[in-house]
Amino acid sequence: MSDKEYRIPAHVAIIMDGNGRWAKKRGLPRTMGHAQGAKVVEQILEDADHMGIRYLTVYAFSTENWARPDSEVTALMNLLRTYMKTSLAKCAKNNVRIRVIGDKTRLDEDLQKAIAHLEEETKNNTGIGFQIAINYGARDEMRRGIQDLARKVADGTLKPEDIDEAAISGSLDTAGIPDPDLLIRTCGEERISNFLLWQIAYSELYFTDKAWPDFDKEELEKAIDAFNHRERRYGGLVS
Ligand code: IPE
Ligand code: IPE
Ligand code: MG
Repeated sequence: MSDKEYRIPAHVAIIMDGNGRWAKKRGLPRTMGHAQGAKVVEQILEDADHMGIRYLTVYAFSTENWARPDSEVTALMNLLRTYMKTSLAKCAKNNVRIRVIGDKTRLDEDLQKAIAHLEEETKNNTGIGFQIAINYGARDEMRRGIQDLARKVADGTLKPEDIDEAAISGSLDTAGIPDPDLLIRTCGEERISNFLLWQIAYSELYFTDKAWPDFDKEELEKAIDAFNHRERRYGGLVS
């Protein structure tokens, strides 16, 4: 690595896990873990931006998370609601462009409206792209993308033989965003849990035991250091 330049990944994706365990360890309700986790996301977004990361994608609520008790789902949705309603000034100041990925149609109407407003108001910002995955599942995203492509084939605007990898990428919620270079998962779990399955084909994976509410700039730097020790070969030979 010594003769190579230190690389900052252009796109970092994070599976923010361990809010519940963090709270339990302190004798607090799980929702306190989520509240602390929400604060950490805001700080990490700023840190990532200062470090020169161009895109940050975070997994906030999966298509599987509806299986949690209603009270926890409501608390998570309320945190997201608050974020959408309060972050506009900060996004404007920091030039952040927001995109929510996932199926938004299942979210409460006021939340959908707040998301649409925030996306619209920040769409011309030229700083870091911040993707928040809400009611997101990679299989569901692919299902919706395939349906869109199939509709185009059915109405004659797309030929089946023109469905190449770029067309598939373009049919996903992350259309136009480069694939993640680095995927981080916190709190010791080493699985993907239905996150960005198409997009992480060649991402470097990094797992840490730190629970998300304890994650900080130093932890992000550690992950990027580890990334710098990886040899990305893409099926070729070591250069
Ligand atoms: C991550 O923390 C946040 C969400 C999945 C919404 P968890 O709530 O999964 O925390 P643990 O895994 O139970 O500790
Ligand atoms: C993945 O975490 C989803 C989010 C971080 C939003 P989970 O805690 O839901 O994942 P599993 O259930 O342990 O796989
Ligand atoms: Mg979890």
